[in-house]
Amino acid sequence: MQQDKILEAFNNASDNYDKYRKQAIPNMDIFYKTLIDEITGYTKPEILDLGAGTGILSEMIYNIYPTSNLTLLDFSEDMLKKAEKKFENTTNIKYLKADYLKYDYTNKYDIITSSLSIHHLENTKKQELYNKIYDTLNHGGIFVNADLALGNTPNTEEIYKQKDYNHLKKQDIPEEEKQKLTERRKLDKPATIKENMKYLEKAGFTDVDVYYKYYRYFVMKAKKE
Ligand SMILES: C[S@@+](CC[C@H](N)C(=O)[O-])C[C@H]1O[C@@H](n2cnc3c(N)ncnc32)[C@H](O)[C@@H]1O
Repeated sequence: MQQDKILEAFNNASDNYDKYRKQAIPNMDIFYKTLIDEITGYTKPEILDLGAGTGILSEMIYNIYPTSNLTLLDFSEDMLKKAEKKFENTTNIKYLKADYLKYDYTNKYDIITSSLSIHHLENTKKQELYNKIYDTLNHGGIFVNADLALGNTPNTEEIYKQKDYNHLKKQDIPEEEKQKLTERRKLDKPATIKENMKYLEKAGFTDVDVYYKYYRYFVMKAKKE
């Protein structure tokens, strides 16, 4: 099953995941910083990071909200273990090893984030997850997603593909790692920006907008009134 393949790929990737991220993601700093800027300014919010992986984004969130309760959810035990190492000396971090589509969310959150994860879901499942996220947010809460999009047309998707290929080719990463990343990318099922916006609006979100975009990389924010 596709989900099993994704889980296996991330369990296998966990050891070297952090090491090559900066090279794998074009303009990684500004991509994540945009998400961080959009969640800044709340007073001690309850935060959930979906598909938190090794905690790259979670760590940035922790740095702006060191006293908030931050929950990291991911179905890969190996990825989460790496995250636990980053937060060894903290007490207000919670870990949930679960599939975010199947998890029975009992708590409510003010901020839900996700980075580079939801594009692994089929589009119908993206809608399901956005519905769940909406239900899991407090009123006034926000969802911010930094992720990958499919090109809006076959021609623009071709441009995105070329950009990915040329970017990776230039990077000083071992060939074996490039190969692994290329294989992992074959499991991606991104939706277009328009589709993502439509799914969020259908879930009930308002003020859905895009705050960053570089080829297929985007940061999208949505509000629950
Ligand atoms: C590319 S990593 C991104 C990790 C982290 N958010 C980051 O920005 O580096 C994608 C993560 O999503 C997780 N993931 C994918 N599908 C998932 C699902 N259905 N439920 C929970 N986690 C999932 C994977 O295990 C992996 O750790």
